[in-house]
Amino acid sequence: MCGIVGYIGNKKAKPILINGLLRLEYRGYDSAGIATIESNGIKNVKNKGRVAELENNSEINELEGTIGIGHTRWATHGKPSEINSHPHMDNKKTTAVVHNGIIENYIELREFLSKNGYEFLSETDTEVIPNLIHYYYEKTSKSGKLDFLKAIKETVNQLKGSFAIEVLNNDFKNEMFVLRKDSPMVIGKGIEENYISSDIPAILSFTKDFYLLNDFEFAVLGRDYIEFYDSNLEKFNKEIKNITWDMSSAEKGNYADFMLKEIFEQPKSIRETIGSRVVKNARIQIDELDISKEYLQNVDRIYIVACGTAMYAGMTAKKILEKYCRIQTEVDIASEFRYRNPLITDRTLCIYISQSGETADTIAALNLAKEHNAKTIAISNVIGSSIVREADYSLYTHAGPEIAVASTKAYTSQIVLLAILGIYFAEVLGVSYNELEELKEEILEVPTKIEEVLKKADQIKQFAKKIANEKDVFFIGRGIDYTVALEGALKLKEISYIHSEAYAAGELKHGPIALIENGITVIGVMTDNLLSSKTISNLQEVITRGAKTFIVTNQNLENVSFNEIINIPQISSYISPILSVVPLQLLAYYISKEKGLDVDKPRNLAKSVTVE
Ligand code: G6P
Repeated sequence: MCGIVGYIGNKKAKPILINGLLRLEYRGYDSAGIATIESNGIKNVKNKGRVAELENNSEINELEGTIGIGHTRWATHGKPSEINSHPHMDNKKTTAVVHNGIIENYIELREFLSKNGYEFLSETDTEVIPNLIHYYYEKTSKSGKLDFLKAIKETVNQLKGSFAIEVLNNDFKNEMFVLRKDSPMVIGKGIEENYISSDIPAILSFTKDFYLLNDFEFAVLGRDYIEFYDSNLEKFNKEIKNITWDMSSAEKGNYADFMLKEIFEQPKSIRETIGSRVVKNARIQIDELDISKEYLQNVDRIYIVACGTAMYAGMTAKKILEKYCRIQTEVDIASEFRYRNPLITDRTLCIYISQSGETADTIAALNLAKEHNAKTIAISNVIGSSIVREADYSLYTHAGPEIAVASTKAYTSQIVLLAILGIYFAEVLGVSYNELEELKEEILEVPTKIEEVLKKADQIKQFAKKIANEKDVFFIGRGIDYTVALEGALKLKEISYIHSEAYAAGELKHGPIALIENGITVIGVMTDNLLSSKTISNLQEVITRGAKTFIVTNQNLENVSFNEIINIPQISSYISPILSVVPLQLLAYYISKEKGLDVDKPRNLAKSVTVE
């Protein structure tokens, strides 16, 4: 979705803004623009299309300013076009604004402004913001930045919805102004220069010192200072956070694409996520949690809530929580959960999973639990992200920045962290099973086992070539393997645009088998000793009807003839998706490459879905 960057310093802003926008490309966008303060006022250059087109836009060569703002737009209100791109300016060209989020009441604000003589050039919701700022600023004595801040405050008081905004004004040629509500925004501190971004990786090459803005906090950035103001415009000090992600983690390195790099990074990201939480022959250590036996004994149910891949990761935790903790556990899609009046009480424990920590539906679902006084735990990959700040407790997957839109290493890190959490709860409850001790040992072995699976990349690539032109692909599995089938089908459709669906293998006969015809590909996942023979029977049924089969398994399948078998190491069925998903990630990747598609930035998709 939309991305924001900003720079103020002694260097030319243009190349720094372009660099930041290129790093934000992965969020998904359809137009780009930047505005800088020049000696004769604000200059605004924008266009539909890629940042590369902005770089080639002849007008951009005129930008010499050392203070500027930039934006990648993912169209919501109005089609992708130059006029709808950000930055937007007020009618008098005094103020430039870039905005992430959605202004829900923009129509009434437009009417208000129209009645006061303002005109609108674009179809966007954003264009009301610079005009409202102008309207309110004109009402002040215009005697300094506090008056301008007052105008921004008056403006945001009128806005309904979500917004992170960055503002330039001709009266303040050496400062820029920012504010957020329900939309991410970080401020990077440099030496005699400062940065703004909607996303840490965009400015990670410039600084590792960050301030995380909270809702309705204002910041004013000068070259060698950053001031913070609360919602009453009182100045306050903010703690600086050092981000430990290293720059190489946000670069492609020797890999052709971020997605391939991130798939191959999984042994490392799992090791980092395990960290010191799991040690052989010792209790699980989760320092971030303070949860008592009495509390857990009293929990009426657990909800695990997330979107997309994170939701599929959540599905894997149900079994461990129900079997060992004996707590009823439900896994929900955040956009459904928030509107279905779920049975939340003050004894309910709600766990929210979000790689970015900024997914609008997940945040809303978390707020719903808070309204019912339920305890909330956030699992996120991004330090200081919104769900982390909202939840009672937060656990980080230490997967490092995930840039490719299709999630891979975040998913496997989430699964390992959920398994660790499940064992932790069981230990707090005082239940002790040998199986749990074994599971801890297995968790520690996961990184090495993923390395084994990654060695199959060439075999998978060859199969990918054979099926790259298919129109439909089906994925089946049972139990935990069904959750992986769902994730495999999602990966494939996201980046190859092949229609792919996952079914619980036992459901095949209840409809989907009608779609099986000669030559169609069915992908089977079998890692569960108890259920594999059942899935084999279902696969026999599709083979009889002419299907080609691709199997991911750790079972002995000597007597059955499948077209391609990817053997993976033995692993506990509680965490088997961490291994069994890897061949499916690679398959989706190689098919997308075979089709010549943009693997990291698939059409219509966004990495961080900050609107509902
Ligand atoms: C988008 C991304 C997916 C991701 C989902 C949830 O759809 O493309 O990869 O799984 O959002 O994102 P989150 O940041 O909440 O995990």
